[in-house]
Amino acid sequence: MVYGQIAAAVVLTALVIAALSLVIYTFLTGISPMPTGPKVAPVLKQAVTMLYPATEPPPRTAFELGCGWGSLLLPLTSLLPHTEWHAWERSPVPYWVTRLRLAIGRGKTGPVRCQREDFFKADLSEADLVVCYLYPGAMTRLSQKLAREAKPTCWIVSHTFRLPGRTPDREITCNDLYHTPIYCYRGGGIHQQSDDPSHSGAASHSQTVS
Ligand SMILES: C[S@@+](CC[C@H](N)C(=O)[O-])C[C@H]1O[C@@H](n2cnc3c(N)ncnc32)[C@H](O)[C@@H]1O
Repeated sequence: MVYGQIAAAVVLTALVIAALSLVIYTFLTGISPMPTGPKVAPVLKQAVTMLYPATEPPPRTAFELGCGWGSLLLPLTSLLPHTEWHAWERSPVPYWVTRLRLAIGRGKTGPVRCQREDFFKADLSEADLVVCYLYPGAMTRLSQKLAREAKPTCWIVSHTFRLPGRTPDREITCNDLYHTPIYCYRGGGIHQQSDDPSHSGAASHSQTVS
């Protein structure tokens, strides 16, 4: 009986600490670890397949900036198992869940390095593909960082949020409840100028996918 109560107290304390940690890191990073939904993840995979068709060599190195619980990282690493994946996540609880999921799924994916660090401190110059699901403030900072560091051949795939001041090269709209947009940009070296920082020029190639 006493052991049962101790176990319940330990579980409850761990849950409270985990919940507090999620709240604190939501404030620190500016966004909660909201996962990519089950309807959007396959469309994002389709977007990556469109950028790297089977006839083309896959990206050598891919980065996921803010991988959360791994909801996008795991499907993408199995889609591109020959790519070297690097993922960043600051929030400890989702980070450890992702590490656990990667450990369980070992063998189904290629090499993945997941770090509990701020991706703004990472060097993006090695990336052939950058995937993210962030928020407008982070996209503004990221846009400047990509302009300094990204290779001209790098593809940037962003779930929901645009890179301000840039026109996407491709745009896919998911057929989900929110008509979630996925924006694809080629390269980050030349920062396009626009009077309106939330510039929303039409993509040169856009489609809706269910
Ligand atoms: C909306 S969630 C997306 C999670 C995952 N990419 C997905 O699509 O399922 C954004 C994640 O980015 C993380 N994040 C935000 N800014 C970060 C930063 N500067 N460094 C590392 N992680 C960050 C947050 O902790 C959060 O888990």
